[in-house]
Amino acid sequence: MPYKPLPRYSLGFLPTPLVKLSRLAERLSGPRIFMKRDDQTGLGLGGNKVRKLEFLVGEALSLGCDTLITGGAAQSNHCRQTAAAAAAGGLACHLALGGEPPGTGERSFAPTGNLLLDQLFGAVIHWTGELRKGEKIPEIAESLRSAGRKPYVVPYGGSNTTGAAGFVEAVRELTEQLAELGESVTHIVFASSSGGTQAGLTVGKSLFGLDTELVGIGIDKGASGDVPFADHVLQLANATAERLDVPSRFSASELTIRNDYLGEGYGVVGDLERRAIRMVAQTEGILLDPVYTGRAMGGLLDMIERGELSREHSVLFWHTGGIPALFPYAQDVLESGESGG
Ligand SMILES: Cc1ncc(COP(=O)(O)O)c(C=O)c1O
Repeated sequence: MPYKPLPRYSLGFLPTPLVKLSRLAERLSGPRIFMKRDDQTGLGLGGNKVRKLEFLVGEALSLGCDTLITGGAAQSNHCRQTAAAAAAGGLACHLALGGEPPGTGERSFAPTGNLLLDQLFGAVIHWTGELRKGEKIPEIAESLRSAGRKPYVVPYGGSNTTGAAGFVEAVRELTEQLAELGESVTHIVFASSSGGTQAGLTVGKSLFGLDTELVGIGIDKGASGDVPFADHVLQLANATAERLDVPSRFSASELTIRNDYLGEGYGVVGDLERRAIRMVAQTEGILLDPVYTGRAMGGLLDMIERGELSREHSVLFWHTGGIPALFPYAQDVLESGESGG
């Protein structure tokens, strides 16, 4: 179905593979399980933000901007992919990162994981202490403007209508792959945090007539500030549809966000995540991350083990990336007593 095209700059290795997880499914004796490998989007070690950044960088370049600014947690996958996208698009990059620089405060450590990669991609880092959601972006943008630069603000998580367009297109990609394989899926399960992935999937599902239930697994209780997260995703889905001239509008009843797997909070690794990471690594040779996909897969395993999803279903887990964070989280990911030797 046609819709309004937005400027796009090619960054990813697309389409990403759609694979069947037969060993995991056999182990669980439940539904058939597929995985969409967006950990393999290619740019800067991959992840879901590459899809959003194709449209965000496309817009930045079409507006004649010379610098990307975004923000997030110190181990933000979004910031790492934005830094890589800026380099690939010939743009400078400034990141507002929560926390303190390594080597200060109580613990001293060398940069690793996403933070190491941010630096290798040449991003300028602004440390913002307690603020881990890009709250300082406007201030940084202002100082860049007064220095004669033309900054383009990539919002927290890349989640605005431009970024969400990446996941509208992702549904086109998936429907083509499913048609080629002669397969269908009853559920798509994925980590939902700043909401752009879910909003884009929601619009894409309607636009391309994909008959499936989207099940977002909430990762961060406070992801959308004072606005309830479901309202935020709904608003973003409707605004994205409007922007793309897609006639559909969505209501709260069409949106599934599971907030029963939030555990001890954002980025706190528990048994749910540890077990999911091991099970998928050891049955399929596929890595999940400690903050997002480990938690979302933990939720999926729980739904299968409790019989909520069973043999009559066919589930797709959308792997959204995040693997570089395994390294800084090594201690949390290992079971207690495993760290030596
Ligand atoms: C690995 C990973 N999965 C999922 C998400 C959530 O995607 P969204 O922010 O679009 O909800 C993120 C966002 O940071 C992420 O890094």
